[in-house]
Amino acid sequence: MAQDDNSGKDLAAANSSSHDVAPVDTGVGVVSKDAVENPGHPPHRPRVTDLDPKKDKQAERTVYTLFFLSAVGSLWAVAAYMLFPIDSANMETVRANNLFIGLGATLALLALGIGAVHWGKALMADHESVDERHPVRGTDETRARAIEIFEEANEESGFGRRSLIRNSLIGALVVFPLPAVALFRGLAPYDEDPVELLKQTMWKKGTRLARDPSGTPIKASDVTLGSAFHVIPEDLSTAENMLEEKAKAIVLLMRLKPEDLNELPERKDWSYNGIVAYSKVCTHVGCPVALYEQQTHHLLCPCHQSQFDVTNHCAVIFGPAARPLPQLPIAVDDEGYLIAQSDFTEPVGPSFWERH
Ligand code: FES
Repeated sequence: MAQDDNSGKDLAAANSSSHDVAPVDTGVGVVSKDAVENPGHPPHRPRVTDLDPKKDKQAERTVYTLFFLSAVGSLWAVAAYMLFPIDSANMETVRANNLFIGLGATLALLALGIGAVHWGKALMADHESVDERHPVRGTDETRARAIEIFEEANEESGFGRRSLIRNSLIGALVVFPLPAVALFRGLAPYDEDPVELLKQTMWKKGTRLARDPSGTPIKASDVTLGSAFHVIPEDLSTAENMLEEKAKAIVLLMRLKPEDLNELPERKDWSYNGIVAYSKVCTHVGCPVALYEQQTHHLLCPCHQSQFDVTNHCAVIFGPAARPLPQLPIAVDDEGYLIAQSDFTEPVGPSFWERH
């Protein structure tokens, strides 16, 4: 308790002397009172504002002028926002808006910052402060008790004695994070360009359209009005990576009245007698578009409810999908079987990565 009282007095004394920074003329030059009273300390160099009241006043004027300029800058930025509105069709207005708001904001921040620093350096009290700190070291009894607890725990667990268990545990803990490292590998860029992968499917000129999953080729006459088929390339079973190829190539085949189709002139020959084929892979994030509404001719993706209008080249009429389902150009061979005229003319599947 006595020690605390003393340190309190020391602190008071230190604060009292350090606050008293009036300069003293020693006969050989002007130094601070600190330097006179604490000869062991490096000499304190008084600032010009400590020595000359005129300079002090000047510094004060500079600081409030800067703060005033900062306020002007902020108001200018607000005014510029209203005076230079953005017209998105005119890039000049965007530039003017950015420029004048930027100038105002720059002035506001710069003047505020410089003013605050100048205030601190030239005018605020220029003295050293002493902060009392409590000792962080525990008492000897606490430390001894902690060691005792560790030793007891060591004894009871056998951690020190049973070296095989200890070493195997350390080994297990060292190896434990490795699966996470391996999993992070999955975040590395994909070796192959996904756009390239989705640009090519198994469809090529002359490939017959077959039922999924039997692989039975489909004749145009099998497709009645209003029906819909899930379709794969006839030669899918010969593919090296059958599942991946199927995921890309799967198609929905539907028959509408030819007059219900609003076909673009360049795609008039992509259908056959009202039969059209579209990729079944949703252009949102790739779910299978599996629901066909006969009456409205809409295809629905069950994942996030995107809807595609079959009569208008599967244009998106609702939901988050960003582009129509790619169309597979089809025709009929000599035996009446439906065949592809070519592969898809654009990548199938999600569109978030491939539109560069
Ligand atoms: S995947 Fe089809 S709407 Fe999201």
